[in-house]
Amino acid sequence: MCGIIGYIGKQEAFPVLISGLKRMEYRGYDSFGFCIHDNENGTTTFKKVGKISAADQVLGDMKVSGNMGHAHTRWATHGGVTEANAHPHLDCKGSISVVHNGIVENYKELKKELEAEGHTFISQTDTEVLAHLIEKFFDGNLEQAVKKAVGRVRGTYGIVVLSKDDPNKIVAARSGSPLLIGIGEDEYLVASDPAAVVANTKKVVYLNEGEIATLTPDNYSIYTEREPQEIDWNVEDVEMGKYPHFMLKEIMEQPESLRNSLRGRLVPDEGKAKLGGLMPIEERLRDIERIYVIACGTARYAALTAEYMLEEYAGITAKVDAASEFRYRKSTIDRNCAMLAISQSGETADTLAAIREAKSKGVLTIGVTNAVESSQARETDAGVYNHAGPEIGVASTKAFTSQLAVLALLSLYLGRQRQLSLVMGQRIANELIRIPDLVQKALECEPQVRELAAKYKDCGNMLFMGRKYNYPTAMEGALKMKELSYIHAEGLASGELKHGPLALVEDGFPVVAICPSDSVYEKNVSNIMELKARRARILAVATEGNEDIAGIADEVIYIPKTLEMLTPIVAVVPLQLLAYHVALARGCDIDKPRNLAKSVTVE
Ligand code: AGP
Ligand code: GLU
Repeated sequence: MCGIIGYIGKQEAFPVLISGLKRMEYRGYDSFGFCIHDNENGTTTFKKVGKISAADQVLGDMKVSGNMGHAHTRWATHGGVTEANAHPHLDCKGSISVVHNGIVENYKELKKELEAEGHTFISQTDTEVLAHLIEKFFDGNLEQAVKKAVGRVRGTYGIVVLSKDDPNKIVAARSGSPLLIGIGEDEYLVASDPAAVVANTKKVVYLNEGEIATLTPDNYSIYTEREPQEIDWNVEDVEMGKYPHFMLKEIMEQPESLRNSLRGRLVPDEGKAKLGGLMPIEERLRDIERIYVIACGTARYAALTAEYMLEEYAGITAKVDAASEFRYRKSTIDRNCAMLAISQSGETADTLAAIREAKSKGVLTIGVTNAVESSQARETDAGVYNHAGPEIGVASTKAFTSQLAVLALLSLYLGRQRQLSLVMGQRIANELIRIPDLVQKALECEPQVRELAAKYKDCGNMLFMGRKYNYPTAMEGALKMKELSYIHAEGLASGELKHGPLALVEDGFPVVAICPSDSVYEKNVSNIMELKARRARILAVATEGNEDIAGIADEVIYIPKTLEMLTPIVAVVPLQLLAYHVALARGCDIDKPRNLAKSVTVE
């Protein structure tokens, strides 16, 4: 879930490891630690609960020398958040040091076996069994011991291992948790996230499932040789620059990220979308009868929007499922269906498991992901990248709007393979071209939203409601609000209000109504009237030029007009800003909300 970095080379490892950890902070963690090895001075291990920035003073005073080491930010799964449970974990002799992302599912039985053989455990983690297992198999060669140890493990791991007794080498292994090797000048790095290595090198090799790699000061080797690739990020992409938070930076970047998602993918005259990643399966797609769209969290709300788009414009029945539900459901998915998986990180464990389940049934799998070379990108049959650039804030913003844009492209692509007319195709294509500018315009509401946030910051509960395309937008607005500000918020289909939630409404109860001028505007207004009759306080998100709504709602935020299917892309902008400013006013940790991790690589 969190972060791993390893370094071996000619520089001092300490500053490289600490700055690498800092670049991965956004992933969410509760403790951190490192181990640095020096042939003359021996090994220094350090662990601490809390944020790296809180330990800046201690770290600044430390004199740790050594040209190799590894470091970790932990997001606890097994065992409380304590110093003893922070990584690295050591074997009995304190010679082997392990950092681990993932879960060792059979750790209880392994621990029992190792304890019976005389190994002593000092933490409650599942990870510690790895250190002792490697110790058990170690006979002078670290990679052989790691290979044997991981052969006994069930679950997921990305591990980076050092041993004093086989010095000048780092061994890394992955299964289910990502790892990549960074190839620098006279130095090699290994990390769970490109953000950790991008300041040292852009040349990387992603480890494949089940691979083990060895890094030495002058070389690296993996069981299967591959050509290095270029990371298409810059250091500025993973730094905040002039913004106080990554989230605000990413909200403001949306016009640009949308331009990048759409670039070269539209042929307006032909009313078509051109998606290179789908070329190999173009003919198979013509025969698809149904699409199962699976995703988690915000990506699931993009999926729910796609359900409307696919049915209305591509004429394909679409069914959306949370990936965590799909994987355990006895689904009727079959070879006439395709699975469409949506994930910003491409590493979400539930989503990957759902893809594997579909593949095992011979179903065509298509991915939409922002992470090049992610597990999802490698495991799906074909896919479309978001090209939104790295998203660092835990709360997904620019990835969401770019998912919506890509899903609109996909609906256009599939629609034009089927019954969608040239004229309608041209309309969608031309409107998509305008979308980045419309989002730029929507961002102009920021000063107004900042003022509104001061009024809403002390709410205990909030409702968000919308219909049709903007029902998922309402859920996304509520998710943003709860994950950032910790205010309890629910997103509803406006028509569902009277079937229960209306009971919550009393004088001044805050409701955000997303009601653009679309095919369901009047229906939305009736629902707003029902709320008003019960003295709810209405904040409407409406289309510019709609004066009627100003006489109904207590407050109105205006968004530019666009095609109904694309309204969520502009309507979500004020909701993102509202959650941001309410959270800011409440003093919340915006880029690292409590209990959450950026990419959920455990079940
Ligand atoms: C959104 O703000 C969340 N942090 C979360 O719901 C996220 O969208 C979800 O975990 C899915 O992640 P993915 O897109 O990387 O698969
Ligand atoms: N399961 C391990 C632990 O709880 C690793 C968690 C992680 O990925 O940070 O320590």
